[in-house]
Amino acid sequence: MNVILFGAPGAGKGTQGELLARRRDLARLSTGDLLRDAVRRATPLGTQAKRTMEAGELVPDALILGLVREVMASGAGADGYIFDGFPRTLPQAEGLDALLQELGERIDAVIVLAVEDEAIVRRLSGRLSCPACGAIYNRYTDAPRAEGRCDRCGGTLTQRADDAEETVRRRLDVYREQTEPLIAFYRARGVPLHEVDGDGPVESVHEALVARLVPA
Ligand code: AP5
Repeated sequence: MNVILFGAPGAGKGTQGELLARRRDLARLSTGDLLRDAVRRATPLGTQAKRTMEAGELVPDALILGLVREVMASGAGADGYIFDGFPRTLPQAEGLDALLQELGERIDAVIVLAVEDEAIVRRLSGRLSCPACGAIYNRYTDAPRAEGRCDRCGGTLTQRADDAEETVRRRLDVYREQTEPLIAFYRARGVPLHEVDGDGPVESVHEALVARLVPA
């Protein structure tokens, strides 16, 4: 099963993507995580992407499609993928179609996580992430047991450079302008599309999301 998780920055794609991936034994493919890893390792791609990400703009389609192709060619998602933060533009959606077609696969469902902008700005001001294992926390609503330490792997938690309020507002604009139109693209293709209210407790959102997907 291949699922696209759409939603504005901070809507909870990473949080819900992790839970769903574990529950359904799917691979979560987050282009944001792949890019942040490239930035940390200072690869040529990371060096190229860093400034764009810090400004809240989108990294060029060709670089993103190259990254995704690499992951999919590795066979990481033998039972399917949860695409988190990808595709974000029409060329990316068309590129994903072509990659899936090569594998004889398709998108089975699109989930749109809906959260109000002001709630997003509040959430992102409190987000803490673990660069080592990808775990996500929130200092207001889901704090780690020991301050600054990841519960799962003991790694040092960090705040993302693009979570400053001004950058979050730019990311929201970019989402509305460039990514939200893809919802109509998938609707026109007849892909099952489900809007889930992303503003409840994490577990309730997870259950609502699972209920929308056909049984595994
Ligand atoms: P990316 O990493 O994809 O960021 P994003 O889409 O902006 O989304 P976030 O990771 O900020 O949020 P999320 O929806 O995953 O929320 P989370 O679960 O963490 O992209 C970053 C940048 O990389 C882009 O701006 C761009 O530059 C570049 N990029 C990436 N992909 C690209 C692509 N395909 N093309 C071009 N450029 C690309 O939750 C957020 C916070 O809320 C956490 O603290 C969490 O604990 C909390 N939270 C989660 N759920 C709840 C809940 N139900 N109630 C209360 N709090 C909650």
